Amino acid sequence: MTRTTARPRPRPRRSCLAVPGSNPRFLDKAKGLNSDQVFLDLEDACAPPAKPGARKNIVAALNEGGWGDRLRVVRVNDWTTRWTYRDVIEVVEGAGANLDCIMLPKVQTPEQVVALDLLLAQIETANGLDVGRIGIEAQIENALGLINVNAIAAASPRVETVIFGPADFMASINMKSLVVGEQPQGYDVGDAYHHALMSILMAARAYDKQAIDGPYVQIRDVDGYRRVAARSAALGFDGKWVLHPGQVDAANEVYSPRQDDYDHAENILDAYDYFTSVAGGAVGAVMLGDEMIDEASRKMALVISAKGRAAGMERTEVWAPPES
Ligand code: GLV
Ligand code: MG
Repeated sequence: MTRTTARPRPRPRRSCLAVPGSNPRFLDKAKGLNSDQVFLDLEDACAPPAKPGARKNIVAALNEGGWGDRLRVVRVNDWTTRWTYRDVIEVVEGAGANLDCIMLPKVQTPEQVVALDLLLAQIETANGLDVGRIGIEAQIENALGLINVNAIAAASPRVETVIFGPADFMASINMKSLVVGEQPQGYDVGDAYHHALMSILMAARAYDKQAIDGPYVQIRDVDGYRRVAARSAALGFDGKWVLHPGQVDAANEVYSPRQDDYDHAENILDAYDYFTSVAGGAVGAVMLGDEMIDEASRKMALVISAKGRAAGMERTEVWAPPES
């Protein structure tokens, strides 16, 4: 099957809202929330007897519309279950034109991504959909998945995100804690998730994917959410799951640049453009206030500027070239 569609440009995923597919009321309510993404869940938020009904609810909710420009994602069950193929067939045949990505949980090998890619291509071809448009979000949730994360990220051009699933991951490595996202008691020498987060981030950046942090389950503790989100945001993650409407604004804020960083980044870009031009003296390293900026500063500024622009931020302070 030939791909007929170029991959869409990555869109912001600061807040990725989990919605159980088994609950039509929650599906409806999610349309009014300000998250960058919704993912309608057929996996752990749906008990086994509720899964067939949830597939139907999800197809109906996607086709009904009302999602604005939110990314519409469906999380299917993982390939070790008996549900995956039917989840994908029912959802993509029923609502493929109104769906942006399939999220595949508990990915352990690149072959599992390839299997989903092939199944999607057949369904797209048979149903007259653009082949290759629907993306894949790969959740890393166990030791084998983390060991294979680089190959998983590279397994298909459909992969758009690599996501950390802390709850299943903690269980997979026998971590001595039941509090998802918080440090395990007794580990007092750093961040117990640093290796997992960094490995996921490296794989995502190496293959030009987005890196997404998973859930924080103390849903009433918004300060706790901010604290944990701020860590992965500081490393470079693009967004985090939200399990409750109260976490949405926190995610949108934490994964957007701060206003002064955004202004600073845009000013670095303008100043660097000017000073490297003939009119500005064609120099490679220049002073912006008390700071020396060069090509590497420009690259860092591009990252912050892209995140700020994607979040719709406006400049509050604009650099001007010196008067000659
Ligand atoms: C999410 O699926 C998790 O396991 O944390
Ligand atoms: Mg999980």
